[in-house]
Amino acid sequence: MISQATIQQILSRIDIIEIVGSFIKLKKRGTNYLGLCPFHNEKSPSFTVSPAKEIYKCFGCGRSGNSISFLMEHEKYSYAEALRWLAQKYNVEIEETAVSPEQKLVQQSADSLYIINNFAQKFFSDYLFNSEEGQNIGLSYLKERGFREDIIKKFQIGFNPEGRDVFAKAALSNQYNLDLLQKSGLVVVRDEKPMDNYRGRIIFPIHNPSGKVLGFGARVLKTTDKAPKYINTPENEIYVKSKILYGSYFARLAIDKADECLLVEGYTDVVSLHQAGIENVVASGGTSLTPDQLRLVKKYTNNLTIIYDGDNAGIKAALRGLDLALEESLNVKLVLIPDKEDPDSFVNKVGAAAFAEFIATNKKDFILFQLETSLKDVGTDSTKKSALVNRVAETISKINKAEDFTKQQDYIKQCAELLKIDEGGLHTLVNKFLREKITKEENRLNRDEQSYNNDNSSPQPLDIEDDAASLLNRDEQHERAIIRSLLEFGLKQWNEEQRVADYIFAEIKENDLEELIDNKSLVSVLHTYQTWYHEGLEPTPKTFLYNEDQVMSSLVVSLMEYNQEISPNWKEIFEGKIATREDLYKEEVFSTINYLKLRKLKLLMANNQNDLEKTTNPEEQIILLKIHQHLKEVEINLTKQLGTVIFK
Ligand code: UTP
Ligand code: MN
Repeated sequence: MISQATIQQILSRIDIIEIVGSFIKLKKRGTNYLGLCPFHNEKSPSFTVSPAKEIYKCFGCGRSGNSISFLMEHEKYSYAEALRWLAQKYNVEIEETAVSPEQKLVQQSADSLYIINNFAQKFFSDYLFNSEEGQNIGLSYLKERGFREDIIKKFQIGFNPEGRDVFAKAALSNQYNLDLLQKSGLVVVRDEKPMDNYRGRIIFPIHNPSGKVLGFGARVLKTTDKAPKYINTPENEIYVKSKILYGSYFARLAIDKADECLLVEGYTDVVSLHQAGIENVVASGGTSLTPDQLRLVKKYTNNLTIIYDGDNAGIKAALRGLDLALEESLNVKLVLIPDKEDPDSFVNKVGAAAFAEFIATNKKDFILFQLETSLKDVGTDSTKKSALVNRVAETISKINKAEDFTKQQDYIKQCAELLKIDEGGLHTLVNKFLREKITKEENRLNRDEQSYNNDNSSPQPLDIEDDAASLLNRDEQHERAIIRSLLEFGLKQWNEEQRVADYIFAEIKENDLEELIDNKSLVSVLHTYQTWYHEGLEPTPKTFLYNEDQVMSSLVVSLMEYNQEISPNWKEIFEGKIATREDLYKEEVFSTINYLKLRKLKLLMANNQNDLEKTTNPEEQIILLKIHQHLKEVEINLTKQLGTVIFK
């Protein structure tokens, strides 16, 4: 476990703009920063980062959080991994506290999966090179296919022995947990006994872009077997197929340099091309590209070249998702490999230079390619043809970034020629699709802008208040306001002897206010604050924001983004001077406590009223009436202090 002191040190250096900015491009807008949301597809930026509040929020998909939750979500890190990443970034030396057996047990499953995969990768590589079986069966197969040892080592390829449970035994004797081994896909349980899932297979580790092993592809040696050619890691906390491009770790620098990403289907294609010196290549794993994979490519380059076998029946399916690539301004080209070859066999046959030459001269634009193949299907059928014209127009309409204007015009011209239709007519049709799209987009933007501009009074335009919060009833808003005052102003002086936190705790205790707070998560923030405070710590929103308890942390995020002024009347008291919440913290604390006291009073009065109605004893009645009178006085006093009308 990372020590508390280290965590504090890391947190004190966190700069959310720098952190988020290392993954997405941010532009300054007022006091905030704006960028394209990495969590959903969008063309106009609605992802907002507030350096002051150290939080981000997307108006498109609603995601929000802090630096750590950003790393957890974006990079699939666990809490501990996110801290380690930050420690490295900010040169903070990590001090570890001893790990108890319980802590070991509750260690995040994702963490453990990485550790298991790392163990497995080393085991399989070691087995391939250093065991007789590995050398005779695995290594000789790879060499026969022409893979060099340096490349096998670079890609950390390995071999799972043929025996029933050679790997499983090794893993279990190293104390790896059977449930996690099953989750990782490495081990299955058959006849109530653990068994290796990848028996007798060549193992291709699949790395994330920073080189950690997410999972494996395991290939049979003899394709004559009934068994599937590849067994892949099942989906788990770290292996999410739709977000993975095989080879991205080894390709990222080369992609950057070439400003082009080559996309092939298989593991062996990537490895063979790499061996031939063509390193800017990744594989999709034989399925059509997902939006997440496209976004991964777009992090490095705008130029995507897809290389497929010429006779592959899956081409059409693979191209289906690519309209999205156009919207992302990706330039998609396509190359078909001839004669029943695939990139792996083709590069082995013709050599690296001829392969590169072939790619360069045979690249076809993806829209035109799609049109050409569809035209073959359409033949002379006029209904089919008009459907095709519509589809083409719609596709072209997706290229509508200003800088892509010329590209769009070129497409209209070339497609009109291929379709043998009037260029002007196609132009009109494209515009029709464009208009429809813009109308939809505008509706969406209007909604976003409205919520964005609500909060003109505050220095930060980041009004993150959304529908859900405004649905909260008044009572809950007051409860939230108290906890928020505590978090924000707790450490400020209340008077000469007390700080705000002391005052709030005393008031809550004295008046039994805690029972009024319905939202139990708020109560737990209150308690946690109290414990820390009494231990001599100085809790701030940050302390909570980066707490490991994600429920508490996100509650605090939502509290801190909650911008409603509780007592606008106070503004008028300081005539002329425009006071901020910061200036008026005492009044805010005072009024939030008083609101809660008022609620308590009303509860007491209602109970009193109840008793009064029930009792027939005159003496009791008099006492109850006196109580009522007293409560009423207190109420009037409180309300005066609040300067507002009496609650109904
Ligand atoms: P291929 O059949 O082209 O395999 O499938 P390959 O990787 O080129 O292997 P070799 O060259 O024949 O040895 C392409 C990709 O499709 C996925 C794998 O990711 C593979 O790399 N695939 C294929 C599976 O996931 N399962 C299968 O059974 C087959
Ligand atoms: Mn192949």
